[in-house]
Amino acid sequence: MDKGAIVPLDTILYPIFRDLGLRMRNRIIWHFEHGLHCKNRFSGRYETILWFTKADDYVFNLDPVRVPQKYPGKKYFKGPKTGEYSCNPLGKNPGDLWIIPNVKSNHIEKTIHPCQFPVELIERLVLSLTREDDWVCDPFLGVGSTIIAAIRHGRKGVGAEIVPTYLDVARDRIEKELQGILKTRPMDRPVYDPIQAENGLAVAPWKAQKPSLQIKLLDSVPMNIKRRTYRENTGSVFAS
Ligand SMILES: C[S@@+](CC[C@H](N)C(=O)[O-])C[C@H]1O[C@@H](n2cnc3c(N)ncnc32)[C@H](O)[C@@H]1O
Repeated sequence: MDKGAIVPLDTILYPIFRDLGLRMRNRIIWHFEHGLHCKNRFSGRYETILWFTKADDYVFNLDPVRVPQKYPGKKYFKGPKTGEYSCNPLGKNPGDLWIIPNVKSNHIEKTIHPCQFPVELIERLVLSLTREDDWVCDPFLGVGSTIIAAIRHGRKGVGAEIVPTYLDVARDRIEKELQGILKTRPMDRPVYDPIQAENGLAVAPWKAQKPSLQIKLLDSVPMNIKRRTYRENTGSVFAS
């Protein structure tokens, strides 16, 4: 950040890495929902991950990181493959837009570090881009999320960090991981959806004909009734 202006670091780094002969395979957008609410620009809700390789012969394992299809079990209904799966039964390629919750105050992995990465984010990278027994290096280690993901999947981890207190936390977390008692958010847990959880409380502001009444109702109606009325009449119940 520079006086409220943002600096797109990945676009600055890309030509440097390219000129060093590295080859870019993906520019992944990691999207998350929580963080500072900005007043003078849209709130920042993504980070980019740049994946480069040194050569054209590189490791990429898709199967361990496949995700469920939206319409699983689809089959060809005509032609020579009729009846066969038209999708991969192991799941689909997760694509280059990853929606994974970031580590904020009520996240199970939260430590003293202000911007630690969720272990599940690194797990996806470790599983897809390395082989068992490989070394995984994180030169900005923080509280050790990378090493935790590495050792969890049979790799070896190494890193550097300049803040000693973060290193203490990293050591403690790695120790717990080795003992099998470190709690992390599982890779396959779906992202929280307030509507599915029947916890969607507000209609879109531009749909509320009487916003003050909407707020009054939200404050006065017990949670279980809000959930029921929301479910029964999504979008209009609070604006009558
Ligand atoms: C975004 S955080 C990384 C968080 C980490 N991925 C985790 O999950 O805990 C970047 C870290 O790099 C550290 N750092 C900054 N400059 C460094 C340097 N020159 N050498 C080593 N670590 C550095 C910071 O102290 C900070 O903890």
